[in-house]
Amino acid sequence: MSTVTASATREARLPNETTLKAQEDTLLTPRFYTTDMKAMDAIDVDPIRAQWQSLMDEYRSDNNKVHFTRPANLMADYSDLPEGLHREFVDFMVSSITSEYSGCVLYNEIKKNVANPDMKELFGYMARDEARHAGFINQWLKDFGIAVDLGFLTRAKKYTYFRPKFIFYATYLSEKIGYARYITIFRQIEKHPELKFHPIFGWFDQWCNDEFRHGESFALLMRANPKLLEGHNRLWIRFFVLAVYATMFVRDQSRPEMHEALAIDPREYDYTVFRITSDISRQVFPFTVDIDNPKFRACLEKLLAISTANDKARAEGGVINAIKRIGYGVSAAATFLRLYTLPVIDHRLPANVRLSPTW
Ligand SMILES: [Fe+2]
Ligand SMILES: [Fe+2]
Repeated sequence: MSTVTASATREARLPNETTLKAQEDTLLTPRFYTTDMKAMDAIDVDPIRAQWQSLMDEYRSDNNKVHFTRPANLMADYSDLPEGLHREFVDFMVSSITSEYSGCVLYNEIKKNVANPDMKELFGYMARDEARHAGFINQWLKDFGIAVDLGFLTRAKKYTYFRPKFIFYATYLSEKIGYARYITIFRQIEKHPELKFHPIFGWFDQWCNDEFRHGESFALLMRANPKLLEGHNRLWIRFFVLAVYATMFVRDQSRPEMHEALAIDPREYDYTVFRITSDISRQVFPFTVDIDNPKFRACLEKLLAISTANDKARAEGGVINAIKRIGYGVSAAATFLRLYTLPVIDHRLPANVRLSPTW
């Protein structure tokens, strides 16, 4: 084998930098999950059979079948994007594709490993949708000379085990937050078309309807098994809501240029997304966290300040900074605990679970 061929073969086997970035696991990056398939098999949707059937009909009709196709003539040149915006946008696309693909892998695993026909059908439809979403982002990443090797990610990324109920809380929230994030950006672009610095934003409206429907599926699964929403499980729900909100808040504030390009204040954007998600989550969670409580806001600001200081210490390295980082960890845990003990707002669950994506 010649040297040229050998190095070409090696390159073909090695993941590119973007794939490695997508493979990284930090507190703020999307993860891959696996769960207890026997417990998934035991999930019974009979108590909400009629609503379940109508949801399955929606999946079967597959109204986004041809939506995720990039028009062949839609070429774009991003060479004039300012450097900071370029970097943040690529980071946004990589974290989006990782989370889309993480959904795809989990849903596919469940579909393959359960015998329960209801679960098999649902997770098959959701895996189909997430594969389309991830593939679509990859088509656009190629313009930047990068694409994530999804096959490599499947093999190389670490999987986190979660009990089914934790999968339900976490993925319900991530689907509904995904909807709220996409629709908020889409509404802004609709109002100000001149801000659309990348064509992908034009796909966000129908895209987020898929995410909304995925969230509806988890809402039905939980309402069919009301024990998941009572007693000590309320504590778990509170934990997941706060962890997801805090993570999103800290991560979004690290993309100032992208938010500026969209003329969206990242704080306002996050509180809009929290408000939409909290309103929607009343369909399934028996309480909402009080996002207007000044103490809630102060805790999020504190977590952001700790995360920024921690990043700086990590970048600088050294023994002193290593000690500082332990202190930041303790102080982040204490702040999260304070957030966790703030009062929540209780309400009675509606008789009809289903909602429409009308935001
Ligand atoms: Fe998706
Ligand atoms: Fe989804």
